[in-house]
Amino acid sequence: MVEKAKFGSKIGLVAATVGSAIGLGNVWRFPAETQANGGAAFLIVYVLCVLILGIPVMLAEFSLGRSGGTDAVGAYRKFSRRTPWWLAGALPVLAAYLILSFYMVVAGWTLEYFLQSLTGALYAGVADGSASPTGLFHERMREYICGTSGPLLNTYALIVLNLGVLLFGVRKGIERLSNVLMPLLFVLLLVFCCVSLSLPKASEGLKFFFSPDFSKITPAVVVNALGQAFFSLSLGMGILITYAAYYPKDTRLAKTAVTVSLLDMMAAILIFPAVTSFGLGDADLEGTALVFVTLPEVFSRMPATQVWSSLFFLLLLVAALTSTVSIAEVSVSFVQNRFHRSRRAACLIVLLPLFVLSALSAMSFGVLSDWKLCGLVFFDFLDTLATNIMLPVASILLCVFIGWRHPGVLRGELSNYSERDHRLQRPVEFVVRWVAPCLILVVLISGLL
Ligand code: PFF
Repeated sequence: MVEKAKFGSKIGLVAATVGSAIGLGNVWRFPAETQANGGAAFLIVYVLCVLILGIPVMLAEFSLGRSGGTDAVGAYRKFSRRTPWWLAGALPVLAAYLILSFYMVVAGWTLEYFLQSLTGALYAGVADGSASPTGLFHERMREYICGTSGPLLNTYALIVLNLGVLLFGVRKGIERLSNVLMPLLFVLLLVFCCVSLSLPKASEGLKFFFSPDFSKITPAVVVNALGQAFFSLSLGMGILITYAAYYPKDTRLAKTAVTVSLLDMMAAILIFPAVTSFGLGDADLEGTALVFVTLPEVFSRMPATQVWSSLFFLLLLVAALTSTVSIAEVSVSFVQNRFHRSRRAACLIVLLPLFVLSALSAMSFGVLSDWKLCGLVFFDFLDTLATNIMLPVASILLCVFIGWRHPGVLRGELSNYSERDHRLQRPVEFVVRWVAPCLILVVLISGLL
């Protein structure tokens, strides 16, 4: 029998869950989505999506996870033995593993940029004015991402880092890491928010932020906001089911869900001015270029270039590391519980194959760029399959399972099995039963189209 791990403190469990939620999704996906979808109006829709849909679905995941007390597959099996419902748990486990495999690569990019900022290599040749910085940073990004040994080495470094944390277990590994890194992350976010607000273009950025154009809210904007909200809150990936199994019985789930969602939104909003202060004109810049081209250019024009650049990429690295750890834990917990393995064996079984799988993603912009699946390079294929298809399906199944088949789980867990109903019970149940599955279905269909 595998010993049941638990988080040691309330702060620790919130830090770990927020650590999962705050990731590259906040730092580069959110600003890019906001720009591409009409700016401040998108922001309002996004906040509504988090509050009205994100929090109830998060509560459904928490409830299933804590009452299941095991991995995602085991949680479904506990309540529906001898039915195919375990597949609804297997889907997020598989999706999480695929996402983990290519997210490791992106996390590796952040490590490379952090190191290059520290050594100054990223800015070599910029100060003498020999080249246009934008072109130069673009070329540097392409050269690196399309290379072989660089992305591979950094991806492997991230896999080893994850292994190091996960081997220590839930309390000594994940919780301790989050307790240290989350405060650091918020300090860095605050620093960048203040610095960017003092930049010459800050007022332009703020105007953009505070002048919503409601005519820009189209169905597509709502669909994108919902997709972003789910991605940012780490929903549908089995992470919250897995983490909630480590929550003590007296943890107040509603309070935790609200805290995590607010902190996640706060992180996205704090980083927004920094990421957009110079990139506003380029509305069609995708996230990658925004972070790896536009921002180095911003830093190159600031005094103490290397310091700001190093701190920013450290922020990204921290955000990526706490997210990869959380998503890897989904598979570790699954292997540990389903196959009755020790934690150590489970960590190795999960992380070692990534040396091959992540490598395929790492090389898919370079030597493997001709290898296409459904017209996409391997990295983009995994991203599209997992994010646009598997995650929404997993969330719909979760809502049906918790909302219709086992509503007692949500009710009991929300009120911590006290006699009195929780005041959020009815609205949350309504959203989980009706609103969330229908809207996620729209996201799924539009993703497919
Ligand atoms: N909430 C995370 C983010 O915003 O980046 C989503 C995530 C992606 C978590 C990938 C974990 C992960 F490995």
